Amino acid sequence: MKILTAKEELRKVVDGLKSENKTIGLVPTMGALHRGHLSLVERAVAQNNITIVSVFVNPTQFNNPDDLRSYPRTLDADVALLEKAGCKYVFAPKVEDIYTSDELGSPFQFDFEGLDKVMEGRFRPNHFNGVVQIVGKLFELASPDRAYFGEKDFQQLAIIRLMTKRYHPSVEIVACPIVREDSGLAMSSRNMLLSDNQRKVASHIYAVLAEGRQFVPNTPVAELKECTIAAIEQKPELKVEYFEIVDGNTLQNIEKWDDTSYVVGCITVYCGKVRLIDNICYKNIG
Ligand code: PAJ
Repeated sequence: MKILTAKEELRKVVDGLKSENKTIGLVPTMGALHRGHLSLVERAVAQNNITIVSVFVNPTQFNNPDDLRSYPRTLDADVALLEKAGCKYVFAPKVEDIYTSDELGSPFQFDFEGLDKVMEGRFRPNHFNGVVQIVGKLFELASPDRAYFGEKDFQQLAIIRLMTKRYHPSVEIVACPIVREDSGLAMSSRNMLLSDNQRKVASHIYAVLAEGRQFVPNTPVAELKECTIAAIEQKPELKVEYFEIVDGNTLQNIEKWDDTSYVVGCITVYCGKVRLIDNICYKNIG
């Protein structure tokens, strides 16, 4: 496995692979890798000749400087895990190799057709502009045949599908299911920032979401929403930022279970200062 830091190095490798007709799988990450990320890497290794994993804590998608500062950075451990998983190239550039100072100074703007107005978009202004900006750059540099994203970041996946359809239609987006701890807590790099006790408490989020499934479709949507928030907040350490029950394609709120064939509940919860996101599929008969 090779670690590349310069864009030019990556381009040269990719040109070589393309001239040999090798298929390329790209897994964009911000590092601090766990089994969730590795599930994407394993899928990429199985489906492509060569897998490239990017490890880059992308500053333009952080709207909170403290969050950017405290984001875990564990490159040596990441490299060891990626080598074992069969990745062939790690792309770990420096911020100044990716962005000009102009790009860092003025937010990139992308038209999300409303997908960014809800949920994460309401609480993290410009977050998705930064995500689309970096993923677009990575697609240009790595020219992947397939790119892998987790369903854990449900809204991000929808937005990346839209951006890919518009600007990189030859790239196939592969969506991978959420990998959870034994406790049910969705794996996340941010879980490292939780104390042992917080980690235990945080498992309550998925326990409540999973239990809520049995109330579909007999309990009205609004009632399930209210009860879910109240049940999670029974733990004083947990504060729900939002919980929306949406159409899984448009991300717009639904009012009745039969409004659409694909229904997902998306949640963000603060456990102390750590922001955790998760989601649950209530119905997908599309
Ligand atoms: P990051 O949070 O590092 O996640 C990288 C990829 O791993 C994302 O596609 C995410 O959805 C997926 N992932 C994270 N936890 C997962 C889990 N428990 N199960 C399954 N997949 C999981 O998402 C980002 O980075 C960034 O926004 C990025 C796309 C790299 C752009 O900077």
